[in-house]
Amino acid sequence: MRAPLTFPSDFVFGAATSAYQVEGHLENDWSSWERDGKLHDPRARNGRACEHWARFADDISLLTGLGASSYRLSLEWARLEPKRGQWDDAAFNGYRQRLEALRDAGIRPLVTLHHFTHPSWFHEETPWHERGCLDVWRAYVQRCEELLRGLDAAVVSINEPMVFLLAGYIAGAFPPGRKSPQEAFSALENLVRAHVIAKELLAPRELGIAQNMLVFAADRPWHPVDQALSRLVHDTYNHAFFEALTTGTLVATLPGVVRGKRFIDGAQDSMSFVGMNYYSRAHLRFVTQAPFVEYHFRDPKRRGLTDLKWEYYPEGFGQLLRQLTRYDKPVWVTENGLDDRAGTRRVRFLYDHWKELLQARAEGVPVQAYFHWSLMDNFEWLEGWGPRFGLYHVDFATLARTPTPAVAYFKKVATERVLVEPG
Ligand code: FCB
Repeated sequence: MRAPLTFPSDFVFGAATSAYQVEGHLENDWSSWERDGKLHDPRARNGRACEHWARFADDISLLTGLGASSYRLSLEWARLEPKRGQWDDAAFNGYRQRLEALRDAGIRPLVTLHHFTHPSWFHEETPWHERGCLDVWRAYVQRCEELLRGLDAAVVSINEPMVFLLAGYIAGAFPPGRKSPQEAFSALENLVRAHVIAKELLAPRELGIAQNMLVFAADRPWHPVDQALSRLVHDTYNHAFFEALTTGTLVATLPGVVRGKRFIDGAQDSMSFVGMNYYSRAHLRFVTQAPFVEYHFRDPKRRGLTDLKWEYYPEGFGQLLRQLTRYDKPVWVTENGLDDRAGTRRVRFLYDHWKELLQARAEGVPVQAYFHWSLMDNFEWLEGWGPRFGLYHVDFATLARTPTPAVAYFKKVATERVLVEPG
């Protein structure tokens, strides 16, 4: 069956950012991580970022310039609760004004509550692997509920819980910088519980997570251990969290790293949409030292890796989308994009991925929304200021925003609802 080339009139086109990556002048666990020299470039600092906090009103025109009807942004917990139990009213009002400005511009927010960063006190006092985290999380979500009251907004409770856990609790590369499989499993359970709390406090709002999904392939296709590893990692990394929020049972198996099974009260049927972030395919190889697995990005089709050296692999997008029908919920693509420093590949990237999306839809996958990562170039975690994921180019010296060629293309498709092949 050939993919239809049209998007339905109610399909949502949007773009995404996260607070720390764009807002600027924030003090949280990540800013101290930077000062501790933990980024790839130990001198890199987030600093003023893109000053999106100060320029928010102007940046709304970037969204309208895309023909977008929705904007995925995150709330910075550290801004709202810089000291434990002390809430900053100015920050609260600041977010409220910004969300109202989006509403007035006809743009519906998709608000992420947790996107990798934490207030500075969090890991010391109430880390994710200890139960106390749920009390402070509950208080935070309660505030978020007040903040959103009366506004038409959907919510992502947690962005990429598996990425956060692998980087923060196994590899020690993100704060809190732990390397403890046991703690990782406790933290995983608590993140599921955190989502359940968000559901309790925010229902009947539309609520989901944004799950990073990768295609996993055996690095040595003939090697039975690489093959088995790819399957296990696929099940746990891509699906364990979704499964937990569907069946109520969390099962995680990464041999030699994490193994556990728990029933979590309230988790059953706790997402109203399935949020997926898709970027690439990884090749897995068994190695004899813990954590027993290495991953590599390869370029077997010789398309050229993206500038962050990730494989350009649109087929994987369709492949993973098809697996999401099992959850029987609308699917929202909460992130998809590439690091394209010259600004020459994004138009083709959009076309290739949208084609996969439309094909999956034609086969019955209920994909209803697409958010491109990112609205503008921004601060990329461990990589700092090198990568460029933006539809809009940001000059990091002047902070001027300029459209890349992908903006006109995005707008044309989002407005006309027809997928035209770029020339
Ligand atoms: C995702 C993150 C997002 C951004 C993109 C490139 O894993 O959710 O913040 O860094 O990757």
